Amino acid sequence: MVQVAPSILSADFANLERDCRRVVTRDDPMLHFDVMDGVFVPNLSVGLPVLESLVKALPEAVYDVHLMILRPHLFVERFARAGADAITIHFESESPLRSTLKQIRALGLKAGVSLRPGTPVQEVYSLLEEVDLVLVMSVEPGFGGQAFLPEAPARIAALRAEAQRQGTPLLIEVDGGINAATAPLCIAAGADILVAGSAVFHTADPMAAVRQIKGD
Ligand code: DX5
Ligand code: ZN
Repeated sequence: MVQVAPSILSADFANLERDCRRVVTRDDPMLHFDVMDGVFVPNLSVGLPVLESLVKALPEAVYDVHLMILRPHLFVERFARAGADAITIHFESESPLRSTLKQIRALGLKAGVSLRPGTPVQEVYSLLEEVDLVLVMSVEPGFGGQAFLPEAPARIAALRAEAQRQGTPLLIEVDGGINAATAPLCIAAGADILVAGSAVFHTADPMAAVRQIKGD
């Protein structure tokens, strides 16, 4: 069953609890929490205190933290303590990948690795046993509301085939430009989790948008 993880980046930050409450359900409890440092990506977003407050307000949600920061290993423990359920770091970050992924798992969380659009998917083939999920970026990370890059489905399909070849259970997540038109391409290619920001929160009925993205 495909899941939608609404990205809080497109929510109204003055009404973050209200917006998140609208989209967290038993079938889709995930919230995608985008953290940016202005260095790894040319933008800033939110961090630890916001996650802590949101977890307190909405403990039933599953927090999928996407760290678009240069040195994620320095923050993994604090995000775990703040209530993250999964932490994804970037392949292109400056952190030691294997030990950071190991640390995330040792903290009892799902560990993910993410790829910028220009990074060949083959780069993570040797890491598939160390991760629970691979996050395929279908836009350059940094901003919501960008157009979906058409090469993303082929990248998802290649990863899915490789995970099958290795016999490794793997969740594949896709992030950027996901809407009712682009989601089916990702689902057909083998994606399990669809991150969607503007297509969910910049609509009058966010739950209807989630259903459309899932194809329900
Ligand atoms: C972009 C973020 C995404 C972003 C997606 O760097 O990682 O999660 O919020 O936004 P949309 O769905 O609007 O492309
Ligand atoms: Zn993201």
